[in-house]
Amino acid sequence: MKIIGSSILALFIAAYSLDSPLPEPSPSANQPHYTADGKLQRPDNYREWVFLSSGLGMNYGPTQNGGSAPPAFTNVFVNPESYREFLKTGQWPDKTMFALEIYTSAVNSPPNKRGNFQDTLEALEMEVKDSSKPDLWRYYDMSLTEPATAPLPKAAGCFACHDANAAVEHSFTQFYPALLDVAIEKGTIKKGISVPLNAHRWSKVVTERGWAAAEAAYREDKAKHPESLLTEGALNSLGYALLSNKKTTESIAVFELVTREYPTSANAFDSLADAYTEAGRVADARHATNKELELVAADGAMPAARKKSITDAANERLEKLKSAK
Ligand code: HEC
Repeated sequence: MKIIGSSILALFIAAYSLDSPLPEPSPSANQPHYTADGKLQRPDNYREWVFLSSGLGMNYGPTQNGGSAPPAFTNVFVNPESYREFLKTGQWPDKTMFALEIYTSAVNSPPNKRGNFQDTLEALEMEVKDSSKPDLWRYYDMSLTEPATAPLPKAAGCFACHDANAAVEHSFTQFYPALLDVAIEKGTIKKGISVPLNAHRWSKVVTERGWAAAEAAYREDKAKHPESLLTEGALNSLGYALLSNKKTTESIAVFELVTREYPTSANAFDSLADAYTEAGRVADARHATNKELELVAADGAMPAARKKSITDAANERLEKLKSAK
């Protein structure tokens, strides 16, 4: 069954004009600048840098909120010169600067009913690769009011976590999808960091390396990552994406795998029946649909209304298949 995401809400917001134009950054604005006593000056133009990604409710350090507070957002930016260099080499040049904003999140504000938006800037953390400084990578919990901030001592723990767990050098590239593709291609993922397969990476194996390699990669990933990203839902969406791209054979292989992995899932057989129908495999489509009906009937937990709608749709498919050759 194709699960369609909630409809996209398009918001048209009237453009507003700023009171004063943005100041032109000086040519060295994207380089680290220090005060005489070694404090890092806050680069006030960091919001003009390249946005890498947002995390929502990621919880790994002492500055993140926890418990009952809504999950915080983290927004990561990097200076554009270093970003361009990374695209070429998969590595960060000297003087790379990262900014990480921590924003509180909120839900209630019309017309929003569900889902979180970013509300108040709580903290600005910075990480600078600078070969002129001890330890190469330095960490700063930037003051939002003072123009410059002293580096955190190594004992603060930032360095150790980034050194041990970040995928490329000290940067958590595993959480920045577009950069992760670059790092994989350039082979710059640190030894000992294992990047799990996801639908995007696995679909490349499926379409480029054939089914035997794809299934082997799937098994290897499942064995290595008990919390695999290749969930039933992810596989189901990938199967439909392949089907709509006319990769019917690959789509069927994916859906067949799902039925083997989740043999009591009516949805898995429903999807497989869709793909068989598309491929003109009438007997197989009928067989998968009958299996689906059997599983739905046996499901004690499924609400009656849902049972009825799935059963009706399955019977409708059987009717259509009768007239197919
Ligand atoms: C326990 C692990 C851990 C600790 C400790 C930690 N971080 Fe991070 N940091 C992460 C993870 C995970 C991310 C990436 C995800 C995100 O939050 O968006 C990250 C991202 C960052 C980034 C964005 C660039 C990058 O490296 O990917 C900055 C800047 C940063 N952290 C600064 C700090 C500072 C400053 C401290 C110490 C006050 C700190 N971090 C402590 C795990 C850690």
